[in-house]
Amino acid sequence: MIDLTIDGRDISVPEGTTVLDAARLLNLDIPTLCHDPRLKPYGGCRLCIVELEGVPRPVTACTTPVAGGMVVTTESEQLYRLRRTVIEFLLSDHPNDCMVCQRAGDCTLQELAYFYGLRDNRFWGERRRYDKEDANPFIKREMEKCILCAKCVRVCGEVQAVGAIDLAYRGFNAKVCPPYEKDLDCEFCGQCVAVCPTGALTGKVWEAQGRQKDVKYTETVCPYCGCGCNITLHSVRNRVIRVSSRENTLNEGWLCSKGRFGFEFINKPDRLRTPLIRRRKDGPLEPASWDEALGLISSRFEGIKKEHGPDALGGLSSARCTNEENYAFQKFFRTVIGTNNIDHCARY
Ligand code: SF4
Ligand code: SF4
Ligand code: SF4
Ligand code: FES
Repeated sequence: MIDLTIDGRDISVPEGTTVLDAARLLNLDIPTLCHDPRLKPYGGCRLCIVELEGVPRPVTACTTPVAGGMVVTTESEQLYRLRRTVIEFLLSDHPNDCMVCQRAGDCTLQELAYFYGLRDNRFWGERRRYDKEDANPFIKREMEKCILCAKCVRVCGEVQAVGAIDLAYRGFNAKVCPPYEKDLDCEFCGQCVAVCPTGALTGKVWEAQGRQKDVKYTETVCPYCGCGCNITLHSVRNRVIRVSSRENTLNEGWLCSKGRFGFEFINKPDRLRTPLIRRRKDGPLEPASWDEALGLISSRFEGIKKEHGPDALGGLSSARCTNEENYAFQKFFRTVIGTNNIDHCARY
């Protein structure tokens, strides 16, 4: 364990802990933009700077490991001025269209500009303009809102192991893009969208569907596969407009393309909402109540079993069900129907 002092408070943390993590254990609020606890330390935005006793210049807390006897200051006149200047630089060529931006109310840059009172900017100058619409089906990319924190690039490489995007060009022209600036063509997991601290990356499907303040959040489990990722449904006016996932879930906030973007069926008017029964041969499928449908299934099962024996029946279950549902299903077939004819689509 390493003993150090942060803002006059003593703390003891395991060797290898960063100054940022140690400060957060003390509930001290150090601003960050490029940091994500699930990614390797990067040190790109310089917003998390702190002062160390005996060190002439501030250092980035997210990349500095603690050392014995360290004396850290996280708030001072100088730090406030430097952090404010960093944000001013970031905003100097930012479009500032918070009024129509999808991320307004949920944007770290907007929040920092608010807390540091940055209405004016000493560094207004040339603006980056990227007008090309990316034709991919899921992710809206507005690179003029990008602050080059590289979180998207890092998550795509470190977590998703895809490497579909990278930082291209240098200096003022630096930008995140797919190879040769083609349209994005990747796994569309949306991890990059989830970690982006600004409106540079958002989902096309949730564009202009609702403001942050109107969103109702519902914690649930993804319906697509037995992994059972935890998801949060964002709904506005009783319509699901987006899916996200929190960091402290079993899936650590990561989702696949189906879980993140495949929710539109929920709002579709032609979605099946009741069981359908064909009441006469060659007749149409007609809506039925669950009681009627289950009664029919039960009587047919009974009839087949009586006439041909239980092995005339077989059950095929689904990878979309939970482990517990699959367990109950095979138990039903073995004990109620009385057959071992049970299989699962994952074996195909
Ligand atoms: S990215 Fe953030 S700061 Fe920029 S326009 Fe959108 S809400 Fe405003
Ligand atoms: S959607 Fe996933 S695979 Fe595609 S760029 Fe983003 S992180 Fe990489
Ligand atoms: S697109 Fe978003 S996550 Fe990627 S570098 Fe820009 S601001 Fe950071
Ligand atoms: S959060 Fe530490 S440098 Fe960006």
